[in-house]
Amino acid sequence: MDLTIRRVNRSKDDARASYNRLSRWYDVIAGSTEKKYREEGLRKLAAQPGERILEIGFGTGHCLAALATSVGATGRVVGVDISDGMLVIARERLQSQGLDDRVELHLGDAANLDFIQAESLDGVFMSFTLELFDNPEIPRVVQECRRILKPGGRLAVVSMTKTNPPGAAVRLYEWFHEHLPNYADCRPIFARQSIEQGDFVIQEVSVSSMWGLPVETVLGRKP
Ligand SMILES: C[S@@+](CC[C@H](N)C(=O)[O-])C[C@H]1O[C@@H](n2cnc3c(N)ncnc32)[C@H](O)[C@@H]1O
Repeated sequence: MDLTIRRVNRSKDDARASYNRLSRWYDVIAGSTEKKYREEGLRKLAAQPGERILEIGFGTGHCLAALATSVGATGRVVGVDISDGMLVIARERLQSQGLDDRVELHLGDAANLDFIQAESLDGVFMSFTLELFDNPEIPRVVQECRRILKPGGRLAVVSMTKTNPPGAAVRLYEWFHEHLPNYADCRPIFARQSIEQGDFVIQEVSVSSMWGLPVETVLGRKP
């Protein structure tokens, strides 16, 4: 059984610069392709009025807006993203929808969530972002999610995933990831296992296909 996942071969500065360049084009390139997977993740998280939710890697802010609508005026959404270009676009989206007063945006590397208190959140959401962290960082990010969630809190992750044995699409994608890391920066990981190993109880998992690449949507609960 091949449980290896590719390493990340670029620095955080390169990741930031790449997403800054991409920010104005992200919705044109990936917006509609990724929409149904993001929506499945939001459905599994099922944010409720009054809840406090964190989104890691919010990109152009579609899910921040959806989460802010779900938690309502009494709830709170916190977002963290490494790209200032993405932050500008997400903020514009929230302002245009009148939702900016219930969303707090942070610029930074989500490998460090020190600015969020332990056991202060009801939910954490990530779409196409956990697979951007290097192998030693994935358990650290999941562990940070566990730290900041209240007991019973939910973690919903949408991620490209690796099958066993990996199919042709995964092998091709991994080749691009290795040789053109700024164009194929996400890489398939084992999201469910990572969440399980971080001491979450798996509540729901679904796998669908995006251009032949498996995409896993996982809901875990902190005991
Ligand atoms: C592939 S995009 C996905 C955006 C959004 N979640 C979506 O589904 O449309 C990944 C996002 O994660 C952000 N990101 C990458 N590395 C990060 C890190 N170390 N910490 C926080 N955000 C990061 C990028 O700037 C980008 O906005």
